[in-house]
This record gives sequence, structure tokens and C-alpha cells, in this order.
Amino acid sequence: MSLLMKRQSVRHYTKETVSEVAITTMLEAAMQAPSANNQQPWEFIIVDDRTILDQLSKASRGAWMLADAPLAIIVVMKEGGKSPRMRPQDCAAAVENILLSAVEQQLGAVWIGVYPLEERMTYINEILHITKGTAFAQIAIGHPDTTKSVTKRYDASRVYRNTME
Ligand SMILES: Cc1cc2nc3c(=O)[nH]c(=O)nc-3n(C[C@H](O)[C@H](O)[C@H](O)COP(=O)(O)O)c2cc1C
Repeated sequence: MSLLMKRQSVRHYTKETVSEVAITTMLEAAMQAPSANNQQPWEFIIVDDRTILDQLSKASRGAWMLADAPLAIIVVMKEGGKSPRMRPQDCAAAVENILLSAVEQQLGAVWIGVYPLEERMTYINEILHITKGTAFAQIAIGHPDTTKSVTKRYDASRVYRNTME
């Protein structure tokens, strides 16, 4: 099965820490993402401090797993660039690459939505001292504590050829 067909959100982790090699591999994948005009409008914050992870777990209702995760990577969306309105797509591509790299390394991860919700952005930006740009997404990462089978979602009725008629 291809890597991307194995990806699923993993929200429960063992206590094992994530190696520095694995972190670097995920960040290499992130920075390999396509971006408009190759503007690469991203920065990444690695968080493995328990107190900060606990604070980040309160950023939104769906961020609870950070209270148990050994690691988070926060994707920060920078200001400016040649195609500023394309920055969210660029950052989303970087997030997906991190998720796929996690699968490749037998890690489990989940995308926790931040941008464009102002309340979440403000909360996280303050905790992490992000002053230029904004937190775009949180990604909780760890060694999976559970195994689930992946549900296939391909649905031919949602695919059209040439037009939607
Ligand atoms: C933009 C975005 C925001 C998300 N936010 C959350 C979140 O806050 N908490 C969470 O547990 N999962 C979050 N997810 C994960 C989705 O719930 C998950 O991808 C979806 O249910 C499909 O399941 P799968 O990832 O296992 O295929 C988010 C996913 C995306 C793309």
C-alpha cells in the first residue's frame, strides 16, 4: 500500500520520544512542499516542552491530544511573499508532507486546525512568541499507541470528466 493510503489521524501515543533524526526528516519533507512562486512562506516550531505542550493542548477543543503527545510541530505562516494570498495553500501542503513523513517513519500524527480562526491564532502566537506571521497549524506527533485500519474513501460518483454535467 502506498504511503499516502496508510495515512490516518493518530491521536494516542506511547511515552516514547521522537528522535531528532525523525524530526529533521519530517521538516525536510515539509520544506520540500510546493509553494506559489516557490515562496516557501513557512517557519516551524518544534515543541517538546511538557508545560508548553499542555498550554497548546488548550488552544482549541480538538487539541486535547497535545497534553499526551511527546512532540508538536507548529507550522508558522510568514507574512508577505510574491503570492501572499496563496500562503495558506502552501502551508497546508507543508503540513500534509509532515503527516506523510510521519507515516513513513512509523510515527502517528494529527493535523490540528488553527488558521484562519483568530482566537486560536492569537492564543498560540502569544504562547510561542510568534510576532511575525501567525501559527497556521499544530501537528501532534508520537509513536502510535493504537492501530486502526484505514478506511478507503474513493467515491467514483464524485468524479467528473471535462465538465460537471
Ligand atoms: C484543516 C484541518 C483541521 C483539523 N483539525 C483537527 C483538530 O482540531 N483536531 C483533531 O483531532 N483532528 C483534526 N483534523 C483531522 C481530521 O479530523 C481528520 O483528518 C479527518 O477526520 C479524517 O480522518 P483521517 O485523518 O484519519 O483520515 C483536522 C484536519 C484538517 C485537514
